[in-house]
Amino acid sequence: AKELPLSGKKVLITAGPTYEAIDPVRFLGNHSSGTMGFELAKRAANLGAKVILVSGPTYLNLEHSSVELIRVTSAREMYDACHRHYKNMDVAICAAAVADYRPKKVATEKIKKKDGDMQIELERNPDILLSLGEQKTHQFLVGFALETENELENAKGKLKRKNLDGIVLNSLKEDGAGFGSGTNKITFIDKNLHIKTFGLKTKPEVASDIWEEIISKIHA
Ligand code: PMT
Repeated sequence: AKELPLSGKKVLITAGPTYEAIDPVRFLGNHSSGTMGFELAKRAANLGAKVILVSGPTYLNLEHSSVELIRVTSAREMYDACHRHYKNMDVAICAAAVADYRPKKVATEKIKKKDGDMQIELERNPDILLSLGEQKTHQFLVGFALETENELENAKGKLKRKNLDGIVLNSLKEDGAGFGSGTNKITFIDKNLHIKTFGLKTKPEVASDIWEEIISKIHA
């Protein structure tokens, strides 16, 4: 039998949103469904890889003998899960929409409604992708950029600043791109700033395009 292009490779993928607790019943979160990351994991497994999929809260499930699904809630839990496995990985892709901030204090009881406005003080979460870039030894590291303006410039900035081998840009300005379960429209930028733009496709197709880009570069 012909060897699959990712046989023997270990792959780490982040997916979904993170939830940052405000109190026992409330959180800060975002609209990520997890679909993009789950499709990347599925595709990698079908191409022969062993996959660790670290996902924030989502209704999705993935049962595949080559995928270990680790469910987390907050950015800090996602950070810890990623760093437990990163050293042994060959490829890492961060498709999660990680909250940049978390409430500074988490109330132990449900916060009661009072007259007037209220404020929640926020503090920075760790940037998981940035930390993976800093600790990179041999891994091929790919990030995502979800942008609403100056898309290409911002994506290139993230590529350099986070020491990435590639970045997948999706723009909320494009219809059918970004959050949700259906479709996406991406631009792949490699570390030599070669840019490849794809049409609107289903997320399984987008996952397949991303893996084709990565495989052509790791085998080059
Ligand atoms: O889940 P879906 O509904 O299918 O939607 C898919 C998606 C839109 C969430 C996905 O395609 C996507 O764009 N994911 C990245 C979203 C994001 O948070 O982008 P960003 O530009 O803010 O972050 C840049 C990169 O840094 C991303 O790879 C992100 O995973 C990573 N990051 C960001 C902040 C942080 N604290 N830690 C990180 O690792």
